[in-house]
Amino acid sequence: MIKVENLTKKYAGQTAIRDLNFEVGNGEIMGFLGPNGAGKTTTMRILASFMPPSSGRASIAGFDIFNQSLEARAHLGYMPENVPLYNDMRVNEYLNYRAALKNIPHRRIPERVGDVRELCGLKEVENKIIGALSKGYRQRVGLADALVHEPDLLILDEPTSGLDPNQIRQVRELIKNLGKQHTILLSTHILPEVEMTCSRVIIIHRGRIEANDTPENLVQHIRTAGGVTLDAKTGKDDGAAELKRIGAVRDVSVTEEDGWKTFSLRVESGADVREEVFRLARDRHWDVRELTARRPTLEDVFVEITQADEV
Ligand SMILES: Nc1ncnc2c1ncn2[C@@H]1O[C@H](COP(=O)(O)OP(=O)(O)OP(=O)(O)O)[C@@H](O)[C@H]1O
Ligand SMILES: [Mg+2]
Repeated sequence: MIKVENLTKKYAGQTAIRDLNFEVGNGEIMGFLGPNGAGKTTTMRILASFMPPSSGRASIAGFDIFNQSLEARAHLGYMPENVPLYNDMRVNEYLNYRAALKNIPHRRIPERVGDVRELCGLKEVENKIIGALSKGYRQRVGLADALVHEPDLLILDEPTSGLDPNQIRQVRELIKNLGKQHTILLSTHILPEVEMTCSRVIIIHRGRIEANDTPENLVQHIRTAGGVTLDAKTGKDDGAAELKRIGAVRDVSVTEEDGWKTFSLRVESGADVREEVFRLARDRHWDVRELTARRPTLEDVFVEITQADEV
């Protein structure tokens, strides 16, 4: 559905994205992750034909985004980072106006606007002035706008930014449902959201793609894995030194409170050292009140990739 080849964008004196290559297949929900300034918005704006790349090419549904921009855009719904809405229009008015702009035939507009209003939960605010809407509703209007011409691809740039936790859950559900019938490219800084919704993830850092895989594979292959927490009284023993002798333990940090020591163990990928820790504690007669494993998450992957060369 999306094909990007050697895409590069330079702003005056600065390369925002460098030689990007990736594809998004039909029906995929692709998470597009990266720190601030990584190049996500730049890439998405180019795909939405808002600006040309400096070099390279991209196509949507087989149509070149510049030579066949109209055809490409007919397949694409784009929700920008800061949804530009007309603040003095009413929700209905705005959606009708946008539908007409997108060349939806006149007789079909009421039906299309009705559908997206329903889908995005806008019924109760349809006659409100956009300027008076809360952030969450404004985002929904932006999403309804992106959907009104029935595109098969959605490009959503941080659709949940600035929303409260309840609204985030609602938008996440909406995106999941949209994903049943649409291909989606989604940028966000909320990583648990990606683990819950996306079938694949691209991590971009300083304008380059550093990872492109399923969330499961990324988490499985991460070098610094999760860890184990042990809460114990170790008497005279130097608990940290003992724990470090366990093969797969990479390092141990300790905090102490009320005579209880909390050991945080970082372990090698794929290793589960809980049994060994338990045996050690039993043999040494330590009092134990907690022994838990922390699985690595997409957040660990993100941190490892994007902080690799920073101190
Ligand atoms: N119009 C512009 N003129 C000059 N430089 C720009 C412009 N837009 C973006 N940049 C630069 O390009 C780089 C990539 O920016 P971009 O907005 O694509 O990042 P992003 O991944 O969307 O970040 P964020 O998570 O903060 O939204 C940044 O270094 C940014 O400063
Ligand atoms: Mg951005």
